[in-house]
Amino acid sequence: MKLKIAIQKSGRLSEESLRLLKDCGINVNNGISKLKTDADNFPIEIFFLRDDDIPQYIEDGVADIGIVGENVLLEKNKKVKIIEKLGFGKCRLSIALPKEVKYNSIKALNGKRIATSYSTILSKYLKEQKVKAEIHEISGSVEIAPGIGLADAICDLVSSGSTLFSNGLKEVEVVLKSEAILISNQKLRKEKIEILNKLLFRIKALRSAKNNKYILLNAPNKKLDTICKILPGMKSPTILPLAEKGWSSVHSVVEENQFWDIIEKLKTNGAQGILVVPIEKMIV
Ligand code: PRP
Ligand code: ZN
Repeated sequence: MKLKIAIQKSGRLSEESLRLLKDCGINVNNGISKLKTDADNFPIEIFFLRDDDIPQYIEDGVADIGIVGENVLLEKNKKVKIIEKLGFGKCRLSIALPKEVKYNSIKALNGKRIATSYSTILSKYLKEQKVKAEIHEISGSVEIAPGIGLADAICDLVSSGSTLFSNGLKEVEVVLKSEAILISNQKLRKEKIEILNKLLFRIKALRSAKNNKYILLNAPNKKLDTICKILPGMKSPTILPLAEKGWSSVHSVVEENQFWDIIEKLKTNGAQGILVVPIEKMIV
């Protein structure tokens, strides 16, 4: 029994989706076929598909799980289960205009033609904003629409912004923010759920590792109590005596988003020689 995972064939999420599997210790085979492959040390089959088609394939059970942007899921509105946000592929769905066109407010879009592959999300947004515009649904290469006279504006995904830039467009409104998520079929068989849980355990270990840092520092023994309170660690900090009398080395784990606050407090409380090291995997 293998778990079938669908990932984007080519595009913003392809590389990082594959990297996620590899970071989970899965040896993805370089198959001859560009459509699917498998792994030699994990019961998984990988399908390379257009991201827009992935929600449908998952709903139908052609694939069991998949990695897509939240944007695609919202647009397609399929019956699938959201398992986990993945923290990569962050982007926004935005409206953009040719850069020479003047733009003051969203009212400027009234009566305009907007090309997009996200007509569901866009029409909902325009309704909320009380703007009446004409939506031209196209399935790809949306960014060339204004240049060939097909539309006045576009609504498409922006991540680095280089696609907009190289097509002479400027971003004027953000419709939605999005990132990659893991989705699954609503009725997976027990054996498949077991494989999925194994994969999820690894994904979570990677994500916690990314959100935490290992920290080492030296401190005078009389300051150890205060320092241990600042550094809670996974259970409690490790304390090892230094060769120099009256001093100890303290090891702990700190969360990335509290990191600078903690470092400042440690310094004012006498910590010295602070080292911060990335963690590769973290199992709590
Ligand atoms: C999106 C979008 C742009 C590109 C924008 O494509 O359609 O082509 O990303 O990224 P940039 O701001 O970094 O240039 P996506 O990967 O979703 O593929 P698809 O549109 O072909 O489905
Ligand atoms: Zn797409």
